[in-house]
Amino acid sequence: MPRGDLDGTTVVLGVSGGIAAYKAVELERRLVDAGAHVVPVVTESALRFVGLPTFSALASEPAHSSLFEDPDPIPHTTIGRRADLVVVAPATARVIGSYASGISSDLLTATLLATTAPVLVCPAMHTEMWEHPAVQENLATLRRRGVHVLPPEEGRLAGGDVGAGRLAEPARIVEAAAEVLRSTRARASGDLAGLRVLVSAGGTREPIDPVRFIGNRSSGKQGHAVAEAAHARGAEVTVVTTVGLPAPPGAEVVRVETAAEMAEAVLERAAEADVVVMAAAVADFRPKVVAGEKLKKRAGPPDLVLEPTLDILAELGRRKRAGQVLVGFAAETGDMAEEAAAKLESKRADVLVGNDVGASGVGFEWDTNEVTIFTRGGSRAVPLTTKKAVADAVLDAVLDQMRPGRTAAPDQEGALPA
Ligand code: C5P
Repeated sequence: MPRGDLDGTTVVLGVSGGIAAYKAVELERRLVDAGAHVVPVVTESALRFVGLPTFSALASEPAHSSLFEDPDPIPHTTIGRRADLVVVAPATARVIGSYASGISSDLLTATLLATTAPVLVCPAMHTEMWEHPAVQENLATLRRRGVHVLPPEEGRLAGGDVGAGRLAEPARIVEAAAEVLRSTRARASGDLAGLRVLVSAGGTREPIDPVRFIGNRSSGKQGHAVAEAAHARGAEVTVVTTVGLPAPPGAEVVRVETAAEMAEAVLERAAEADVVVMAAAVADFRPKVVAGEKLKKRAGPPDLVLEPTLDILAELGRRKRAGQVLVGFAAETGDMAEEAAAKLESKRADVLVGNDVGASGVGFEWDTNEVTIFTRGGSRAVPLTTKKAVADAVLDAVLDQMRPGRTAAPDQEGALPA
C-alpha cells in the first residue's frame, strides 16, 4: 500500500448536517487513501443527508453518532484522545457556534470540547449565513484559540444559489489537514517548544487632545514577524500590539495604544515570560496635559509640554529574573555599535537589534529589514532580507543566550566597544 501524507495518523472526521455532507464521503475516502485511520463522528442532521452505513463502509472503523448509544460509555473523551487531528467538514453554523461557546449538544461538539488534538474546521453554508457577523465572530474566536479554519469557496450552493459558502474541495481539505499536522509536529519539535515569548509591536500614540496624537512610523510588521516565527518554532506567544496585523493562531493578543497602556500590559505579563522582545517603538515623551476638548486652530499653536514615559525595557531589565532573555530594538541613524553597547548596559538587555532606519528598504513600514544583532559576546550583521528572516535571526540570538556556558557564535564579528 502506498505511503501517504497522513500515514499512521488517526483523523476524526466530524460531519455536520448540510447538503455538503455528501462530499464528506469523498473526503473520507481520500483521507483513508492518504494513510489515515479515519473515525467518522456524524451528527443527527448529517444522517438526514447520508446514512451511517455509508460512512462506516468507507472509514477505518464504524461511524459514531450518539453520545448515549455508543458501546463506549464516554465516546467523546475516548475519541478525542485517540485523535491526532479532528477535521470538521462540513462545519455548519450551529456546530461552529456551539464549539465557540463551549456548548456540548451532541457527540461531535462534545468531542471537539474534549480533544486536545489540533482541529481543522471547514465551514459550508449559505452565503447569508457565512457572512453573518455571529458566524464570523465565532470563527474569529476559534482562530484565536488556535483552531484552523479552511474557508469555503465560491460556487453553486443548494437550491440553485451561487456565492461564497461552498465546502472546500475534498482534495484541498486533505492538503490542509496534512499541513496542520506538519506544522503541529514542527511546533512540538521546534527549538522554542515550551518557552513563553512576549512580544511588543507597533508604535504608540500619545494623545494631545481627543483627535490628535504624537506618533511614530512603526508599522508593527517586525514585531508581528517575531511573533509568527516564535510560534512556528513552538513557543507560546503573547503579542502586545498597537496594530491590527494578524497574529499567530492561539496567541494571546493585547491591543494597546499609548506607552502607558503598553507598559501596563507588558509588565503584567513579563514575569511569566521566558523571553521578552520589545520590538515596539514606544514614545519616549508624551504631552503632560491632554486637552479634554479638541484644541481650536484659532487659539494658535499650542505650547506642548512633554514628560518622559516609563522606559519599559529598562523596567523589564530591573525586574529581570534569572534565565529570562530580554531583547530590545534600537532605531538609529548614527553610530549603531556605540549606541547598542550603551543600551545593552543601561537597559540590562541581553540582545539588542540595531536598525539603520536611514537606509532604503530598512526599518519602519518596509517588508524587508537589515539589522545588526548585538549581544555582550559580539555582533552579527543580517544583510537586507525579509522581516521573517530577521525575526528568526533574532530568535537564534535569544537561544544562544539560553545555552549554558554560551560563547560567541562563529560568525560573530568581535566584541562591542566598551
Ligand atoms: O532608548 P530607545 O527608545 O532607543 O530604546 C529602544 C528600545 O527600548 C526598544 O526595544 C523599545 O521597545 C524600548 N523602549 C521601551 N520603553 C520606552 C522607550 C523605548 O521599552 N519608553
